[in-house]
Amino acid sequence: MSGIKIISTGRALPSKSVTNDDLAQIVDTSDEWIFTRTGIHSRYFCAEGESALTLAIKAADNALSASKITKDDIGCCIVATLSADYATPSLACLVQTELGLPEDIPVFDLNAACSGFIYAMETARSLLTCSGKKYGLVIGVEQLSKILDMNDRGTCVLFGDGAGAAVIECDDDLFYESVLGAKGGKEICCPGVNEGANGSKSYVSMDGKAVFRFATSAIPKCIEMLHEKVDFTLDDIDHVVCHQANSRIIDHVIKKLKADPAKFYKDMDHLGNTSAASIALALSEMDDDGLLQNGQKLLLVGFGSGLTWAGMLITYDKK
Ligand code: COA
Repeated sequence: MSGIKIISTGRALPSKSVTNDDLAQIVDTSDEWIFTRTGIHSRYFCAEGESALTLAIKAADNALSASKITKDDIGCCIVATLSADYATPSLACLVQTELGLPEDIPVFDLNAACSGFIYAMETARSLLTCSGKKYGLVIGVEQLSKILDMNDRGTCVLFGDGAGAAVIECDDDLFYESVLGAKGGKEICCPGVNEGANGSKSYVSMDGKAVFRFATSAIPKCIEMLHEKVDFTLDDIDHVVCHQANSRIIDHVIKKLKADPAKFYKDMDHLGNTSAASIALALSEMDDDGLLQNGQKLLLVGFGSGLTWAGMLITYDKK
């Protein structure tokens, strides 16, 4: 089977950082309540003139510049998101135009919520394998601030905006495997992104406790499913990058697996939960901080609304 490896990363964040204390001015909450339950201190919200599209373009441009390949070599462009600027055209098509990507390639958005980036990576691999092209551009982006109910303190404190991107290379004989899954359920719901005809708006709603239970079982389940396909242990993995929903979810899993906490990356303290962008953003931060070294093996795990889950074993190999 052909696999993929990550050859570059990029990211973009909005200009406005919103702290827990800022939110406490709007809803009845506190930094202490939010941080102890989620590990989140602050997140970014788009300011005027910023949107999922502007973030996606910037993150993709950064990843492409870092890749040292030419735009003409890109064989597909997929954006994972649940909060695109428009239902159509897709963010991916608008990124394609802005960056001048080739026209004879598949370009589209994909919604698998917080598992979206891994879904998009595996979809890109499949497309590249079929077309025989070598490189793909995969972006995860969200502008969740526009679908948050700022009267619902149970959800509005959790999420943030941002974008991450990766350029991937398809090849044979790579350390690579993926598992994707879904089971329809309304534990996390977002009925509609845009304002309705009557001016009413739909917001993210969530059964927090049910989601917590789902998330803490989804991560070990993904690892187990990967185990069934590849002979590896967590000792073989350099970094585990889970969807950055909540620090307590990751801590719970570390305890359950008796794993080394140092392997599990966390950045929700300053980014919050950025859904489809979170794993891509984490990879880009790790890259810039020098945590990622060529040849390192990564385990990525996503889980979220749908309900969806996804696991991936992949190598980092910067060009
Ligand atoms: N600030 C202060 N109090 C808050 C609050 C906030 N932001 N949000 C809720 N509360 C209150 C509730 O009203 C409730 O008060 P009550 O006991 O007087 O009724 C109390 O805190 C406990 O609420 P509860 O919902 O039981 O809290 P919890 O311990 O389950 O924590 C979450 C809530 C959301 C932090 C937790 O359920 C969680 O992390 N779930 C997973 C969420 C997630 O990661 N989703 C995305 C997955 S992709």
